[in-house]
Amino acid sequence: MSTISNSEAIAAWAAMPTDAIEAYDDQGDFPKRHLMNGNLLRMLGPVDGRRVLDAGSGEGYLSRLLAERGAEVVGVEPAAALLARSQKIEQDRRQGIRFVQADLSTLPEVGQPFDAVVCSMVLLAIPAWQSAMAACVGALKPGGRFVFSITHPAFENLYPTWRDHGHCQLDRYLDEYEMPEGHAPDFHRPLSAYINEVIGLGCRVIELCEPGLDPQVARDSGIEAIESYVALPNFLIISAERDR
Ligand SMILES: C[S@@+](CC[C@H](N)C(=O)[O-])C[C@H]1O[C@@H](n2cnc3c(N)ncnc32)[C@H](O)[C@@H]1O
Repeated sequence: MSTISNSEAIAAWAAMPTDAIEAYDDQGDFPKRHLMNGNLLRMLGPVDGRRVLDAGSGEGYLSRLLAERGAEVVGVEPAAALLARSQKIEQDRRQGIRFVQADLSTLPEVGQPFDAVVCSMVLLAIPAWQSAMAACVGALKPGGRFVFSITHPAFENLYPTWRDHGHCQLDRYLDEYEMPEGHAPDFHRPLSAYINEVIGLGCRVIELCEPGLDPQVARDSGIEAIESYVALPNFLIISAERDR
């Protein structure tokens, strides 16, 4: 179980250093560029002319990718520093994205219903994740698409343990617990928790994507131990459709 509240988790995200926030590029970062974005966009389906909610929009790179593809985007982000960065870039670029400050688990009216909701690397950051997932599904039109990503619960320690031991190590899978690494805590939950919850919310699971890094991209990157991302999936992306 979670030992901290949503507000405490959000406060940790809000304290993220400015240089870390500004380090995001137009595709996010290396793993997002090479493993995540193409799959998220493919699994969302065509977004041109569609209304899309970016649930937990962070500094907003994914909202901007969606707006570039013709979507009408609302980004919801509770952490002030990240929200401010997304709003500043929107002021400069004027893509028509509306960024709103809110906790997903108590989502206010932000223009529901949407054609699609994307929630990338967010549910694992939320103590009260079930109500956040329910808000994502509840924000959809009947038949709307819900795409979410998490760190793959079976391979969360992939990079550091592969680098130090040459293979991935995991010693606790079935429990729920806080993982303190990074700017703010993430939470480990077994895969069945997420899948059963989305099914229980009346969704039909369409696809589970376990992306692997292109071996040539890995070689060209020169990053130590990056072959771990070729061999094992560090991320899991799930697409589902709300009941019609
Ligand atoms: C790993 S970041 C991902 C951000 C963005 N989706 C991306 O892919 O760049 C996790 C995000 O979840 C947000 N978050 C944490 N708690 C939240 C909550 N209760 N409701 C909505 N977002 C939350 C954090 O503020 C942070 O922006």
